[in-house]
Amino acid sequence: MSSNRHEIIEKNVGLLAVLIVVAISFGALVEITPLIFQKQTTEPVENLRTYTALEMEGRDIYIREGCNVCHSQMIRPFRAETERYGHYSVAGESVWEHPFLWGSKRTGPDLARVGQRYSDEWHRVHLINPRDVVPESNMPGFPWLEENVLDGELTSKKIAIFRDNFGVPYTEEDVKNASEEVKGKTEMDALIAYLQSLGHAMK
Ligand code: HEC
Repeated sequence: MSSNRHEIIEKNVGLLAVLIVVAISFGALVEITPLIFQKQTTEPVENLRTYTALEMEGRDIYIREGCNVCHSQMIRPFRAETERYGHYSVAGESVWEHPFLWGSKRTGPDLARVGQRYSDEWHRVHLINPRDVVPESNMPGFPWLEENVLDGELTSKKIAIFRDNFGVPYTEEDVKNASEEVKGKTEMDALIAYLQSLGHAMK
C-alpha cells in the first residue's frame, strides 16, 4: 500500500515538483525564521563604532576601485583562517555596513582585520606600487589616489543617509562636520584611514 503511494508521486512529475518545493521551503523556513528574531544578527558588538567621515569616503573609494573583487572581509570559523587572520567575523560587526563587503573571492588575503597591522606609510607605498614592499605581489598599483583630492561636497549627505535610512547612530554634529573633515584630504588618506579601521571592534 505505502509503496503504491510512493509510486504515484514518482510517476507524477507535477506532484513530485510541488512536494519538492514544499520540502525545500520548509528547510529554508527553519534556517531563516530564527535569524529574523535573533538579536545576535542585528545588535552591534560591544566596541563597534561608526566610521568617521574620512573612513566613510575611503570605503567608497575601496568599492570604486574594486578592491572587494580581490579581497574578502569575512574570516570563516576554521582554524586555518583564525590562525592567519584572527578571530572569525561575527554578524554584529557588520550591522552598520551598507552594502556589506564580505565577499568570497580571495585573489589577495582577507582584510577583515587588517586594521593596525601595518603602518600608514606601509599602506601608502603598497598602494602606489605593491611590488615595492611585496616583490612577488600581483596586486595592481593605485598611484592616482595620491593625487585625487576630496572636496567633501557629498560627505555630509552620505552620513545623513546612513543615519536616516539605515539607522546608523550618527549625531547631528557628525553630519554637520563631515564635509569639513574630509575637505582637502587625498583619496589615499581616506582609503588608508578606512583600511586601518577594519576589525577595530574585535582586536
Ligand atoms: C587583482 C587583485 C587585487 C586587487 C584589485 C586589489 N588587491 Fe590587494 N592584494 C592582492 C594580492 C594578490 C595581495 C597579496 C600580495 C601583496 O601583499 O601585495 C594583496 C594584498 C593587499 C594588502 C595586504 C594584506 C595583508 O594582510 O598583508 C592590502 C592591505 C590590500 N591588498 C589592499 C587593497 C586595496 C585597498 C585595494 C583597492 C584599492 C586592493 N588591495 C586591490 C590582490 C589585489
